[in-house]
Amino acid sequence: MLPPSNPQKLTLLNPIETPCKPTTRARAPQSVTAWRRWGAALLVSCSSLASPWATAQTPARVIDSMAERTRACTACHGDQGRAGPDGYYPRLAGKPAGYLHNQLRNFAQGRRHYELMARLVDPLSDAYLGEMAQYFADLKLPYPAPTTNNTITADRLARGQQLVTQGDAARGLPACTQCHGVRLTGVQPNVPGLLGLPLDYLNAQLGAWQTGQRRAHAPDCMAEVVKRIPAPDLIAVSSWLARQPLPADTRPAERVPPGPALPGDLRCGSAPELSTPLAAPSALPPQHAAKPAQKGQP
Ligand code: HEC
Ligand code: HEC
Repeated sequence: MLPPSNPQKLTLLNPIETPCKPTTRARAPQSVTAWRRWGAALLVSCSSLASPWATAQTPARVIDSMAERTRACTACHGDQGRAGPDGYYPRLAGKPAGYLHNQLRNFAQGRRHYELMARLVDPLSDAYLGEMAQYFADLKLPYPAPTTNNTITADRLARGQQLVTQGDAARGLPACTQCHGVRLTGVQPNVPGLLGLPLDYLNAQLGAWQTGQRRAHAPDCMAEVVKRIPAPDLIAVSSWLARQPLPADTRPAERVPPGPALPGDLRCGSAPELSTPLAAPSALPPQHAAKPAQKGQP
């Protein structure tokens, strides 16, 4: 648990008026100490009012909705999880629930690193992490238009596009679309989309996989994927992705795209259904099993 340092004081706070609005989303403080102070203030002002972190001193007037309970999250991740103003705090809204849940586990279990988030999610039960993941996954919000304009030549961009849509057989690299969906909007329930992500975020994540700073459940297929792509090609890939407009339907695809079987050494521990499409539905925990396809969806 994250006991508030001064629970008495908390009872004076009205959840509606707590200072956890996007305006408190300061840019990354410069020092670790500043981070700690800022994070502690955030926890006291927001999350300790919410039931998962609640103590005996919790005020009577708690507004018990997931939107309220996740205000500590949206202080960084933007209103309704739309993403922070820079490329640093990723969007949560509309990403597949299983993917979001896996990331919360990754932070809690040390496969991804961000101390303030880890401290927030550490005390929460796995079931509650799943509920938060589902809440953000269900928020369907429009994406902003891409604004990336880093300097890169047209043929490097074309190379990026080629790797994303066709892969590179000589390097044993499948197309990104084979796992992330033909429209690159992700695949239910465990694979995230690759569009609508800022260039800085994409580079940071791909770089983190290269250095082992970010890991997924083993076997970690993304670690294998980045190993097979030389650095200049990786920049070409992220630069091309960050320039693509979102398709009209931004929802993740309901099932794994048809295509050649993935190589055995590219199995994904966090998305086993990619390698065993037919066995997928029964292998998934019910709350994250893909919902039945809606009319007009792929
Ligand atoms: C202090 C700021 C901060 C707070 C508070 C915070 N996050 Fe995060 N979160 C981040 C940052 C920064 C990242 C990206 C870290 C990285 O680059 O790997 C992140 C990443 C994530 C991811 C992975 C997203 C993806 O697409 O891979 C999820 C899911 C997430 N946060 C959920 C939450 C939830 C739920 C809460 C509330 C319990 C929360 N966060 C609170 C800053 C924060
Ligand atoms: C073999 C399947 C597979 C292939 C091929 C693949 N990915 Fe992934 N990718 C995944 C899975 C599964 C995840 C989720 C990992 C996790 O749970 O942390 C992921 C996650 C990611 C993320 C993190 C997204 C976020 O919001 O943080 C990025 C970025 C990414 N992949 C980029 C790529 C690119 C670029 C390519 C092509 C060069 C590619 N992937 C090819 C399976 C794949």
